Amino acid sequence: MKEKEKADGSEAELRSSSDASEDLAMYEDDKARSTARQTRNVLEEPHEEVEEVSVLEALAATGVRSVRYALEVPAVSRVVANDFTREAYNNMCRNIAHNRVESKVTPSCREASMLMYEHRDPLKQFTVIDIDPYGSPSVFLDSAVQAVSEGGVLCITCTDTSVLCGVYPETCYSKYGSVSLRLKCGHEMGIRIFLSSLETHANRYKRYIVPLLSSCIDFYIRVFVQVFTSPSQVKRSLSKRSMIYACSGCDSHHLQLLGKRLEVGASKKYPAASGPPVDRTCAECGSTFKLGGPIWSEPTNDVGFVRSLLEELETHKQDYEHAARVRGLLAVVSEELPDVPLHYTLDQICNTLHCTMPNMLALRSAFMEQGYRISISHTHANALKTDAPNSVLWDIMRCWVKMKPVKVKPTSPAAVILSKEPKIEASFSVRKDANPPSRIQKLARFPENPEPNWGPKARAKRKAGTAAEDDQSECEGSKRSKIQDENTE
Ligand SMILES: C[S@@+](CC[C@H](N)C(=O)[O-])C[C@H]1O[C@@H](n2cnc3c(N)ncnc32)[C@H](O)[C@@H]1O
Ligand SMILES: [Zn+2]
Repeated sequence: MKEKEKADGSEAELRSSSDASEDLAMYEDDKARSTARQTRNVLEEPHEEVEEVSVLEALAATGVRSVRYALEVPAVSRVVANDFTREAYNNMCRNIAHNRVESKVTPSCREASMLMYEHRDPLKQFTVIDIDPYGSPSVFLDSAVQAVSEGGVLCITCTDTSVLCGVYPETCYSKYGSVSLRLKCGHEMGIRIFLSSLETHANRYKRYIVPLLSSCIDFYIRVFVQVFTSPSQVKRSLSKRSMIYACSGCDSHHLQLLGKRLEVGASKKYPAASGPPVDRTCAECGSTFKLGGPIWSEPTNDVGFVRSLLEELETHKQDYEHAARVRGLLAVVSEELPDVPLHYTLDQICNTLHCTMPNMLALRSAFMEQGYRISISHTHANALKTDAPNSVLWDIMRCWVKMKPVKVKPTSPAAVILSKEPKIEASFSVRKDANPPSRIQKLARFPENPEPNWGPKARAKRKAGTAAEDDQSECEGSKRSKIQDENTE
């Protein structure tokens, strides 16, 4: 947060569920046809040729975030702070006046979807739409993908992570059109399910998404995506999504693209894919598979954009209260293998084999010695994200267990895996390049929660208010007060 221009939200009872991403929230896009890099330039320096940058905070509560957009992002010329409760609206009005941003921030008391539907006309669309609900944003996606301008940015928070990450697969399907699985890479899967859902919504209107930054922080997912219009790119979407076969015995996963991508010169075809990529049982441990997805299987971040955020943070670190935390997160994100969806974790693999854990750097070195790439994931401190096939992963572990023998039950997945001889000879000597830069620099990569009881408080109780509130009672109404409740719907 820019200390000197900090907005005063003290009157407000309601707080954002994603305060930790505040420092990220200020990066928006110019009105139209911009790339991520152009976007950054536009935001840093107001430019005469740049069209108006307008922001809609669709679920604004106190309006504190809208005030910050107005005060902290020079290129922003207009903000609409909207919330359908009268109490929130009144708080917003006070906060806007208190911070003297009346010329830029307009309070609004409308149902968010209705407001966005009224801004589908390209002349009325917003450059940036920020959606930060309690729980799932799914009911706002259809209107949001239509109300954002060409090349504009959607900034969306999901706090229903248990739905997206496999605890409630049936709810996930009803809200997002995908089946989530309970896997160690569940948080990354949750991000990818959400992006797939967003893409589906956009595709209905000949639009498609380009993710700039997608992160899972503490208890929520936050994504920043650009939205563009292109019927030909929409056809491509089939080849950007995959189903997942995850082994119920050893968690080995295999991706099945929904469509092939045949692009030769001007000829572009996306026929249905051939499959499945697995037999009826797992080649490593003999167990059956669970089927999940579809997930977004393209990159979830624009690495150039993420690096530009890091540069900005480095240049102006004195302005950001949580600079160390954000830098750690962004550094790890920038190191993730962009073309490898999902990951394994060291503890999960060792649990399966009942073996001791190798040193992380030694294990990373073993993959690199075999000619494969390996990275961490910001979603898990013990993540192993690699382009090595599952067979190589398990062969490396077979070599490890030869050095550190284990006793396993004869019928267990471990016994089946270890009954096979490895086809390679793995070396666990630590390589210098196995240590990722973010670790060498001792960045705050996976910081503890900043304070006790960190996380969302109970949802504010609904009071009698506007007609708009009544219109939307199915979205926000009900007597449930905890986000967790929403997750079990
Ligand atoms: C988590 S709070 C928003 C926090 C805010 N973005 C911030 O950074 O402080 C969610 C808000 O959305 C409002 N809300 C929920 N459903 C809505 C809807 N359909 N239309 C408009 N506002 C809605 C609630 O009244 C609540 O104030
Ligand atoms: Zn298996």
